[in-house]
Amino acid sequence: MKTLVLKDLHKGFGEGTVLKGVGLEVDRGEIVAILGVSGAGKSTLLRIIAGLEVPDQGQVWIGGELATSGRRLLLPPHRRGIGFIFQNLGLWEHMTVEEHLAFVLRARSKTVDQARIRSTLEFLGLSAHAKRKPFQLSGGERQRLALARALVEEPELLLLDEPFSNLDLPRKKKLHREFLRIREEKHPAILYVTHDPLDVKLMADQVVVLHEGRIIQQGPLEALLGAPSHPIVKELLEI
Ligand SMILES: Nc1ncnc2c1ncn2[C@@H]1O[C@H](COP(=O)(O)OP(=O)(O)O)[C@@H](O)[C@H]1O
Ligand SMILES: [Mg+2]
Repeated sequence: MKTLVLKDLHKGFGEGTVLKGVGLEVDRGEIVAILGVSGAGKSTLLRIIAGLEVPDQGQVWIGGELATSGRRLLLPPHRRGIGFIFQNLGLWEHMTVEEHLAFVLRARSKTVDQARIRSTLEFLGLSAHAKRKPFQLSGGERQRLALARALVEEPELLLLDEPFSNLDLPRKKKLHREFLRIREEKHPAILYVTHDPLDVKLMADQVVVLHEGRIIQQGPLEALLGAPSHPIVKELLEI
């Protein structure tokens, strides 16, 4: 069974149409990079998958379950088994590290699994910072907190909106390794948006290029570089 299936998604805002029939299938443990120029609809697509936005038409299937059908939200965001990392991280400045994780778990069930929180913080090397608030963390630690919050529910699917922008090269490479380790140990499917061919080269199994509302090409990086279907594919992927 596919972790994620998108069928014929359409979405417009007022006059403009952002998505014009997007379909995609993603397997368990698969890492997919989404590329496209600014305004191509990448964030809109992730938000529709997460249930934070509804399409005008089309379906989202998550783990074999119909989650969104047209404008009907059949599964609310917190029941989708999705971890989302927003572009600006979206940390809660008034909460400590451990409170971030407890908040997510409490939203799903009444009891908060403290052992789960401890093991997630341990996994990401944040145990010593459990009582700190975001302003007391370094940039890398803030990034790992956003990751911990997305991982604490052990999601089947991780959605990452430009997780590598504004990172220096060493931090970026470290985060690549972190995601590969998460895939190795927990096997979620990972969808991430990026503008940097290096992020694609070092992490992605599949590349999806979104252009003018459609997926114009999809496949392994080498295949796209070898036979780009459109000049923009080359433009986006060549270093
Ligand atoms: N909530 C919204 N209301 C109106 N327009 C929106 C909204 N969200 C996105 N858009 C528009 O949809 C287009 C695609 O946006 P977005 O998905 O953020 O693109 P990307 O992430 O690829 O840069 C843009 O033109 C943007 O202005
Ligand atoms: Mg965006």
